[in-house]
Formats: sequence, structure tokens, C-alpha cells
Amino acid sequence: VLAGAELILCVSGPDAVSLGGAARGALLAGMLDPFRRGDAVRSYAEAGLEALAMEWMPRITRAQSMDVLSSQSNLAGYKAVIDAAAAYGRAFPMMMTAAGTVSPARVFVMGVGVAGLQAIATARRLGAQVSATDVRSATREQIQSLGAKPIFVEGVAGIEGEGAGGYAGETSEEYRRAQAELVSTHLAKQDIVITTALIPGRPAPRLISDEQLRSMRTGSVVVDLAAEAGGNVEGVEPGGSVVRHGVTLLGPVQLARSLASDASALYARNLFNFLSALWDKEAGRPVLSDEDEIVKAVRLTRGGVVVSERLG
Ligand code: NAI
Repeated sequence: VLAGAELILCVSGPDAVSLGGAARGALLAGMLDPFRRGDAVRSYAEAGLEALAMEWMPRITRAQSMDVLSSQSNLAGYKAVIDAAAAYGRAFPMMMTAAGTVSPARVFVMGVGVAGLQAIATARRLGAQVSATDVRSATREQIQSLGAKPIFVEGVAGIEGEGAGGYAGETSEEYRRAQAELVSTHLAKQDIVITTALIPGRPAPRLISDEQLRSMRTGSVVVDLAAEAGGNVEGVEPGGSVVRHGVTLLGPVQLARSLASDASALYARNLFNFLSALWDKEAGRPVLSDEDEIVKAVRLTRGGVVVSERLG
């Protein structure tokens, strides 16, 4: 089958051995995890495959419908709140009953990208009192528009934290200190914390120390969606659940996969939109132009060599 295939679509990148027999020049598109799987990328080049990393889709309007990180992060943000609610021994919404009042859960979302926004929306739907923070000041309005409270460092240089392509960049030392202080006082009052902060190509920023976890109330739940990238929370176990100082710390990896149907449907649609955009009717196959911004961003290998500048 592989020998006749011109186009190989995958979820995560296969190793080159399992691709033995694939024709030289065939396209391989999927979430190839190029920074962490450099050896696999080199082996794709050696096999003559043209590897395309879907997670490197540029953040431009035209590519929005092809953005696999967005489609999967959105599901992960939702599921993080559902899992937190399941692990939390109390109710989320405020309930006024004849037997007394149940106070609403306080949920704090750190990192308001695609996953964070969906986490805010989901926690709000469940009736929690939600607050959120990010280094990109553009998120302040988004947080408010979802009915949550923005928690931001004020009047410190480096507040913007805006890096290339709409992603976060590194923040200044002064900013990090101010952020840690602000977050410390806020954290101690939270029941649920969802962290989603990522900086592309770097380990995830550390947002919560063990000392800060200790300040939280017994029975609180922290979900670290950055666990696989090194973790936003000290002591998180990727793929595991630990209890530290009475706080349950979850470190789910590939959380969207626990919503397999939706994850597959959205991922497949992303791939379809990507291929449709590059499709050449006459050639009957996708044609990858060197001038195309999307192609330039996602192409890792071509003609037997690694061509991506980001891997240079
Ligand atoms: P991401 O997954 O790279 O990071 C998650 C969030 O963590 C970001 O909002 C980032 O600013 C934040 N963060 C990083 N360091 C932090 C720190 N030290 N403290 C607190 N927060 C920190 O981001 P994601 O979810 O991919 O989205 C980022 C932006 O890009 C969003 O505004 C999104 O709407 C936009 N976007 C645009 C697309 C397009 O136009 N095609 C596609 C996907 C996203």
C-alpha cells in the first residue's frame, strides 16, 4: 500500500521503519513533533519523503481552518475543566437550598490561548466563579467577554509578553517576579486551577511552585495542560495524578484524545482543508509552492534533506 501512496496522512509521526517501502517524493502530513523528534525528521528526509508538520501551521486567517493545535486545544481546554470537576469533591455552581447554600467553585485559568478560553467558557457554563491571566494583554478583553475576571500584572516593563506570530514570548525577569507575587495571593483563594501556558520551541514556563501549591486549600485541584512540555506546575507528573499538600495535581497528556470522536472529526477536517487549499485539479494532487506562506511554515524535508529553517 505504502509503495503506491503519494500522500500519507497520520496523527502523530510514524517511525521511518514503519514507513519502509514508501515511495520517494511522497507527502507525509501529520503532527510530527519536529522539535522533539529530530531523528525521525532526518529519517523522513533520508527516505525521500516530503514531511509536513501540521502543528507548525502559521497563525494567519487563511490557515485558521487548518490549525490542528487550535482544534485539539479547544477540546483539551473543555476536558480539563470536566476532569477537574470530577476530581473536585464539591459542586461547581452556587446552590441555594433549604438545607443551606453551597458556594460556587473558584476557578483560575492561567494562559488564555485557545485551550484557556474554552476552559473559561466551560467553567462558566458549570457555574463557577472564574478568573484568568496571561502575558499577552490582548487577552484581557477576551477574558472579560466570557464573564471572567482578568488578573494582570500592572505597571511593569515587559507586560506585553507578545512574541512572534501571536504566540507568547519570554517575559522579563522583573515581570516574572511581579507575576509570581500577584499569582501567589490569588492562588491561595482558588479551588480549581487550569494552566495552559506554552512558549513554542521552549519548555513551558513555570507558573506555580511547590510552595504556592502548599498555600492552596486542601481538596483543591490543579490541572496542568503543559505537563508534556515540562509543566507549568512544579512536581507535575506527565500523564499522571499526584496529591501534593492536599492538592490533587493532574498532568494529562494529549487530552483531546479522550474525546476521540470529536478530536478525529476536527483533525480530519483540518487535514482536508489543508489539502484542498493546495490541491491542483489538473495534477490531481496537492502542489506545494515554495512561495506559499503555509507551505514554507509546515515543510520539514524535501529532496532528501531537512529544509525547515526552524530546525536549522
Ligand atoms: P499557546 O498554546 O502557545 O499558549 C497558551 C497561552 O499561554 C497563550 O495565550 C500564551 O500567551 C500564554 N502564556 C505563555 N507564557 C505565559 C506566562 N508566563 N504566563 C501566563 N500565560 C502565558 O497559545 P494558543 O492557544 O495556540 O493561542 C495563542 C493565540 O493565537 C490566541 O490569541 C489565538 O486566538 C491565536 N491563534 C490564531 C490562529 C489563526 O489565526 N490561524 C490559530 C490559533 C491560535
